[in-house]
Amino acid sequence: MSQAYINEEWKVEYVKGSLSLSEEIFSLREETFVNEKCIMNSRNVRAESDQTGWHVLIRNISDNILLAAVHVLPATLADVEANQSNNSILNSSTIYAKRAAIKKQYRAKGLLQLLIYSLIRIYPEHEYLIFHLQDLNSPIRKFTKAIPATEFKSKIIEDIDNPIELTPFITRTESAMVNCFDKMDENTRVIARKMIFDDINAKLEGYIDDFHCHNFWTKLKNHTLTKNEYLSILMDMHQYVRMTTRTLALAAAYSESRDLRNFYIHHLKEEVDHEKILEADISYLGEDVDYLIHSRPMCKAARTITSLGESVISYRQQPEMYLAVPFLLEGLAGSIEESHLSSIVSCIKSWGVKSPRKAANMLISHAGFDGGHDGHHLLDQKMIQVEINTERKKRELLANMDIVFLSLSEIFDPKSIFNDISQVEDANILSNPLLENVYQTPEVTLFQNQGV
Ligand SMILES: [Fe+2]
Ligand SMILES: [Fe+2]
Repeated sequence: MSQAYINEEWKVEYVKGSLSLSEEIFSLREETFVNEKCIMNSRNVRAESDQTGWHVLIRNISDNILLAAVHVLPATLADVEANQSNNSILNSSTIYAKRAAIKKQYRAKGLLQLLIYSLIRIYPEHEYLIFHLQDLNSPIRKFTKAIPATEFKSKIIEDIDNPIELTPFITRTESAMVNCFDKMDENTRVIARKMIFDDINAKLEGYIDDFHCHNFWTKLKNHTLTKNEYLSILMDMHQYVRMTTRTLALAAAYSESRDLRNFYIHHLKEEVDHEKILEADISYLGEDVDYLIHSRPMCKAARTITSLGESVISYRQQPEMYLAVPFLLEGLAGSIEESHLSSIVSCIKSWGVKSPRKAANMLISHAGFDGGHDGHHLLDQKMIQVEINTERKKRELLANMDIVFLSLSEIFDPKSIFNDISQVEDANILSNPLLENVYQTPEVTLFQNQGV
């Protein structure tokens, strides 16, 4: 969150709270924010209260003059003075935006919505935004659709003449971001779209970290992943990989945009026969590939990923939303490093397999296809940058990525499959009375079931 975002006029900067805040922020607040001097009576006190959280600053590109600033941090009881200490909103994740200052002549130019939009995205997992207002008709309410936060106390400022009351307001962060984006002009959206692209990439980075924490990688490293667990992962993967070319063709058919259509056609060509790579891996380990191709019912995870594609492309007719699938899957595949690949090979070798690489072609080849600067993932990113150009679309895409990631996590969570029938005796499976009969006297039970 340290980079700046620019268009031809403005630059948005993020500064982590610190004592070394520049004088210009204080000057801007004194110039624009109501009774700043009354709230904070010395500069030391002001600087101290600015230490935590983040500051969002908007500057003019031409002369670097500070036009707008706001301080934002996770809300605490001390910040917002809740009526009850066990306040349900504070107990969920809430951010507090305070001391928003904007030069008067820029308020009508779209800076306010850009400022609010920019501050909410710092805390993407937080659900609510709270702020205090003196003017109840302030445009900030219009942009955020905030309502009075009755669970919080007003702030009273002792002014020279009359006390001033600042009323607390609250809004949901997700709808506030959508509303602020909608209220921006095209010039301001140039900045917001750069933020959207970074937010999507940041979400992917989070998934990559989570993916590498999966049990699968630990088990591979420790050589505790069994052959059956590995086979189960490959077979589940096969069930969505075999659908990929057909879903991509569907996406191409529904894409009105020529660039998007060509992207899906190009991607389709790259994926032709990739299920055969999996079939070769599976067959090398001695599994029944014929059953897999012709008879195995689709597993839940593969069904979810495939149905998601069919739904967004044909039923909802939003083929750009299918970008979530290649973007996430190729991003994850590209994140598999050399050390992971050697763990796969050495783990397979530990099962006594003669040529372990012959059983790992899918994972090894896709780390290469999808990763790197000329990999497939780079093309996905370029398309995302073009197509996912509103806050609403960003939220849809992230929701779809979430579904795909959950399904993939299900596939990569090695199932407890017994390597050897002798292990069954130690397992809880015997507590099931039906299975107990099967395992204790298999022949008799089978004959009884067949009426023999
Ligand atoms: Fe592939
Ligand atoms: Fe790929």
